[in-house]
Order: sequence, then structure tokens, then C-alpha cells
Amino acid sequence: MKWKDVDYKPYTSTERFSSEEEAVRQEDFIQKAQILVREYAEKKGHVPSACVVTFGCQMNARDSEKLCGILSRTGFMLTEDEEADLVVYNTCSVRDNANQRVYGRLGHLHAMKDKDPSKKIALCGCMVQEAAVIDKIKRSYSFVDLIFGTHNIYKFPELLVMMLSSDKMVVDVWDKTDAIVEDLPIERKFSFKSGVNIMFGCDKFCTYCIVPYVRGRERSREPKEIIREIEKLAADGVSEVMLLGQNVDSYGKGLPDKITFPGLLKEVEKINEIKRIRFMTSHPRDLSDELIELMAVSEKICRHLHLPVQSGSSRILKAMNRGYTREGYLDLVRRLKESVPDLALTTDIIVGFPGETFEDIDETISLVKEVEYDNAFTFIYSPRSGTPAAEMPRSMSDEEIKEGFDRLLRCVQETAKKRVARYDGGVYEALIEGVNDHDDSMVTGRLSNNLLVHFKADSSLTGKYVNVKLLENKGFYYIGEML
Ligand code: 5AD
Ligand code: SF4
Repeated sequence: MKWKDVDYKPYTSTERFSSEEEAVRQEDFIQKAQILVREYAEKKGHVPSACVVTFGCQMNARDSEKLCGILSRTGFMLTEDEEADLVVYNTCSVRDNANQRVYGRLGHLHAMKDKDPSKKIALCGCMVQEAAVIDKIKRSYSFVDLIFGTHNIYKFPELLVMMLSSDKMVVDVWDKTDAIVEDLPIERKFSFKSGVNIMFGCDKFCTYCIVPYVRGRERSREPKEIIREIEKLAADGVSEVMLLGQNVDSYGKGLPDKITFPGLLKEVEKINEIKRIRFMTSHPRDLSDELIELMAVSEKICRHLHLPVQSGSSRILKAMNRGYTREGYLDLVRRLKESVPDLALTTDIIVGFPGETFEDIDETISLVKEVEYDNAFTFIYSPRSGTPAAEMPRSMSDEEIKEGFDRLLRCVQETAKKRVARYDGGVYEALIEGVNDHDDSMVTGRLSNNLLVHFKADSSLTGKYVNVKLLENKGFYYIGEML
């Protein structure tokens, strides 16, 4: 089947419209895409399906909800099956194994496309912001139909029309933007909770990290736009929001009205229907006393803080350009625990950074024991081309890094299990998120401290808050009983 030519006005990335004009333009493209999708349905005898696969972080998950919202509006039926008529990979490039997974899966999609040449394949997200990746796709994966980056995701309706009316690969990737376009359709994964972008990009330039290069400079959204979006979500049944940004503690920089992150949180707290407020990610360098004071008294801000430490060695932290020392981080944790005693802390740690030794890893292990995290995500350092650390000489062999990594992982698991045991027998309020993945007589609920608890209850309670007694500590989650 050939997609019919449709009248569209493509424009180059140097041509820009205001946020309002852009929203109107894209709405117009949604209607054009609807015509193409209807014609496709008639010819093929079925409504075309679309599958969006998300790699990576919460920001990508939120972007995927936007892609799904647009696909739904244009008439695609959403599915999780990659046999779909259109497959979109929303990629991540924070570590090389994420890139490799995408290449591997593209191979499978190629085989499917050989059987059904009308199948369409789109790639977006952080990975395609790298010029080398686009070259490789053009060279070795020329069956891909559409490539677009992180800065122009709001152009998806227009790009869909271009893709559906052309047999050539459509590539539209910008190296930067200052645009923030609001008001595109969104298809939420959960009816009762939602992520909300409060800022985009990152200015921190940690030496290992590719995010500032693929997500661009830090841009905060206007507070009134954020509040308007949350009010709309609240009216639509959402009671838990997760405020999203690479570095939420520097929210507000560059906005005409002076506002800090705690200032924004106070505004969100005023929205009645919102019962829980989460945020991700905090940076130890920017986390303010004002935020600690607010968390101490807030009824709505959840008792969980994800505070990436990356390393417990001041020498490595310096080489990483993290802007704090081991002592500074531990002091921050002490102040947090003093002010918010029931706070659950989680973190990210990298092992195998250039120049790291066994002694540095020992320092990280001792920090994990001292902080007693509720959970920690541990990663082996992955060189990202274009970042300063990729040029730094490595000091440990792969085997040594693996050995250090395994030691750290064991320590994380042991301390977390002990730490989480403090909730044993306690009664906590859980928001029921849905049927348990492995046992459909159980549901899964999330506590304010982000701990998951599985317990017997009717799935019709999804989205409701119930009290649960925590009975069996399974390390990172509990088995409980509804009261
Ligand atoms: N190699 C390994 N881990 C990385 N992270 C970011 N960049 C890299 C890299 N090059 C980790 C950090 C960050 C998390 C999202 O991913 O720990 O906090
Ligand atoms: Fe990457 Fe550092 Fe920015 Fe986090 S703060 S996104 S690790 S550069």
C-alpha cells in the first residue's frame, strides 16, 4: 500500500513559530494525518495500529505519552505489540547498552518490514541527537521511515504527515531549541497519576553525561502553564503528580518572574485534588534549605527523595564535575534526615569512571553504608563520545570494574533490605496502581516513600488510597494486608 500525497507545508528548523501558532499548526496536521489514516484503514481493511516503545528515563516516558496522545488523535489504535503498522522507538543514549538494544531490536523490525513493506518505523529521543547515530541509521538501517529528535517532538503530527506521504526517510533533528510548545494531546498511561514536565535540558555538564548535549540547555516552563496543566489533570482524576526535570532544584532560572522550586511546589500544593507530589531529579549541589524546610512540614510532598551521589570519593566527584564533596553530600543527607525523619532516600551510582581505583569504590561502599539508602541504582561507566570523560584514561580493567561493581551491588542490596525493614508491621497509606503483574488476585500499591506493596484486593480499587499493613519484607518491596 502507498500512502497518498497530502498537501503539507514543510519548513526547515531555522523557521520558527510562536508557541501558540505552533500548537495551531500541529492541530492542522493532526487533521491531515486523520485523512491519511482513514484511507489506510479502508485500503488495508483494518484500523492501523501503532506501538510506542520507551527506553530510558521518566522524561522519555512522559514524551511517549505525548506521542501516544497524537497517534490516538490521528486514528491509530495503540498496542504494545511491535507487529503494529507503525512502531516508534523513543530512545535513550545515557549508556551505550541502551543504544545497542535499539540497534538489536531494529534488526527484528527489519525482518517484519520485509514481510509487510507498508510497515512504518520511526526513531526519536536522545540517541538520534547524535550525528554519528543518524549516519549509522542512514547507512545500515535505511528501512527506517522517520527520525526526529528531542527538541521537536511537538512537530510529531507534521512529521507523521510527511512520513505517511513519502517513501523516503524523513529526518528532522535540531541541535538546539528555546521553544516550549504546550497543549498537545496526551494519552496517559495511568488515569490517577501523571508526570508533568517543569523544565527541559541540563546545564550541569557532569563530565560523563551526554544529557546536556542531547537535551540542550536548561529551560523552565512558566509556573502558570504548569499549574494550568496540573489543574486540568486534577479535574481529570489525577491525584498524584511527578514534577519532572533533569535538575529540578534549579527550576525558575531565567524566567521573568522570580520563582524557586519550593515556590512552585507551594503553588502545586494549593490544588485540592492533588494528594501526592513527587519530583525527579534533584541535584545535591542545588538542593536548597528552603526545600528541606518545606518537605519537613508538607502534607503532600512524598516522603521520598532520589538524590544521585554517583560516587563516594571526593576525588572522583571532582573529576565528574559534580560540584560537591563526599563530606558535603553526607552533611546534606544528615540535614535531610534530621528535618524529615521518615524520608526514604534513593540514589544513582557509577562504577568504573576513568581514574577510579578500588580505594575509591571502597569509599563509595562506605558511603552507602553510612547513608543507608532505601534503594540505589548502580551503573557501570559507559564512555559517551563528545563528553570530557570519554577522553580520560581508564585505570581499571573490565574484570576489575565488574568485581568492584558486584561488591557495591551486594552492599546496596544488604543495606537496603535492612533499611527497608524499619517499615515492618507498620500501617501506611497506599495508592493502588493496578493488578499485580504476577498474581491477578493481588494489587500493587505505592506508599508515599515510593515503596511498593502487593496485597489481596479487588482491582476495581485501582486509583484509590487504602491503608495497608506491611507484613513481609522482600528487599525492595513488601507483601501486605489491606485493613
Ligand atoms: N555511564 C554510566 N552511567 C551513567 N549515567 C549517566 N551517564 C552515564 C554514563 N556515561 C547514570 C548516572 C545518572 C543516571 C540517570 O545514569 O548515574 O544519574
Ligand atoms: Fe547528566 Fe549531570 Fe545533568 Fe544529571 S546533572 S542530567 S548527570 S549532566
